Amino acid sequence: MLLTVENVSKSYRKGNKVLRDIDLSVGEGEIVGLIGESGSGKSTLSRLIMQLEAPETGVISFNGTPVTKRLRKTFYEDCQLVFQNASAALNPSWTVREILMEPLRNSEGDRAAHIRDMLGSVKLTDAHLNRRPSELSGGERQRVNLLRSILVNPKLLVCDEIVSSLDRLIQREIIDLLIELNRETGMAMLFISHDLQVVEYICDRIYIMKDGKIVEESVKVDGEFEFSHTYSKKLFGSMFSRGLV
Ligand SMILES: Nc1ncnc2c1ncn2[C@@H]1O[C@H](COP(=O)(O)OP(=O)(O)OP(=O)(O)O)[C@@H](O)[C@H]1O
Ligand SMILES: [Mg+2]
Repeated sequence: MLLTVENVSKSYRKGNKVLRDIDLSVGEGEIVGLIGESGSGKSTLSRLIMQLEAPETGVISFNGTPVTKRLRKTFYEDCQLVFQNASAALNPSWTVREILMEPLRNSEGDRAAHIRDMLGSVKLTDAHLNRRPSELSGGERQRVNLLRSILVNPKLLVCDEIVSSLDRLIQREIIDLLIELNRETGMAMLFISHDLQVVEYICDRIYIMKDGKIVEESVKVDGEFEFSHTYSKKLFGSMFSRGLV
């Protein structure tokens, strides 16, 4: 397994567990969904996976080694997080070129050439490089945000609500891009969302989270997820499958 989360718990205040005994895994090249309502603990889990915070109990491993035992620098070459809000994640005073150079600051080789090579993979062009985030559309901003995370060629991308603030058409564009990247590079993803339609479209396996607990894991059979837990049935039952755009 590429990523394993075992028995992970977290509280911010004594006695108030935000995450309770979380077990979850992502295999190589897999796109796994994590879905749950607001406040269920999804972003907290993504911060723990990225070592931005420490779990109270449990172990998070990457390729079989606990992430705490790995050098941060090499861990972030393997695993990257994409934040929800591209506008807040991008430094407004930097040009797109400066934003994209930053993650490559420790890389050897021709960084500018690497950026130029990768621009096309997120459907951006050289013309975007001299602009600042305020001079981009919402979709373009999220593509810059995404490109910044994939420039180091990570094996796992943790995507936390990355299309939530975009309209359906642009959501579709970004998601199709992610699927293409996954097929071409084998990059695995933990795709966090509260949008059932999006998750159903992109993921083959999902975890349902409620109040800090994984209540169910489901695998897609013939294009649909099957559930046994009442909560998941209720969650998915409330949606009628229109598909994306
Ligand atoms: N730094 C913190 N200090 C105290 N409580 C926190 C902190 N971060 C998160 N929480 C609480 O932990 C719970 C889970 O929050 P989290 O952001 O992980 O939820 P989420 O599932 O990502 O929600 P959303 O879908 O709205 O993004 C919430 O009750 C939140 O108030
Ligand atoms: Mg969140």
